[in-house]
Amino acid sequence: MKYKDVKVNLGDLEYLGASLLHGVDATTMKFHPRLHRKKFHRIIYNFPHAGFHGRETNPDVIMMHRNLVRGFLWNARSMLSPDGEVHINHKFTAPYHSWGVADIALECQLVLVGLHDFKIEHYPGYKNKRGSGSRCDKPFPLGDCRTFIFKLRPVTAIFLKMESRKLHAPPIHPGTMGRAKSTEEIEKKCSKRAIGCNFCTGHVSASISKRSRA
Ligand SMILES: C[S@@+](CC[C@H](N)C(=O)[O-])C[C@H]1O[C@@H](n2cnc3c(N)ncnc32)[C@H](O)[C@@H]1O
Repeated sequence: MKYKDVKVNLGDLEYLGASLLHGVDATTMKFHPRLHRKKFHRIIYNFPHAGFHGRETNPDVIMMHRNLVRGFLWNARSMLSPDGEVHINHKFTAPYHSWGVADIALECQLVLVGLHDFKIEHYPGYKNKRGSGSRCDKPFPLGDCRTFIFKLRPVTAIFLKMESRKLHAPPIHPGTMGRAKSTEEIEKKCSKRAIGCNFCTGHVSASISKRSRA
């Protein structure tokens, strides 16, 4: 087993009511059947790292890490509620700083709204882990780290709010043809008045009572 405390930790999370999913790829997570079309208030990735593929200063290795961050943010962006936040905890020293996390976020229509010192003591019980290799259950040195907080670009958030309102709005009567009319006016002129119209409340009840009499 990779992590010796894993059973206890997963048990505690379940006890606290968390839903646990395993083996989810952060770069394709929005397509996961249990996550598809779900919106989240907070999406957090502590210390993204694509694994050990050579020196951390190697431009190809940096590119792999950047691709992981880009994939995660691109997916997280689609899974975020309009006022939600994506948090990434990340080292702020070279060469990690050169990943350009905030620039990648901008490519994904996310803007940096906060950059706070990361203090492990603010996360009681959390122990940072390497994630892969023979020492994966061991912590990695933290040093100067920050919490990057991202939100949807305002224009994206407004669009999403409008989309969600459309989903919950009552259907628009086709007879309005985009012009504002009173409900009575629309219902009086409705061409389906005699047979019953799904948009006019009066006609619907009339057609239902006609059907129930038959
Ligand atoms: C430096 S470790 C951090 C682990 C843990 N989040 C922590 O804070 O201790 C980086 C983690 O990213 C995970 N990872 C790498 N690529 C991933 C991907 N495409 N999807 C999900 N996780 C990934 C690794 O398995 C590893 O656990």
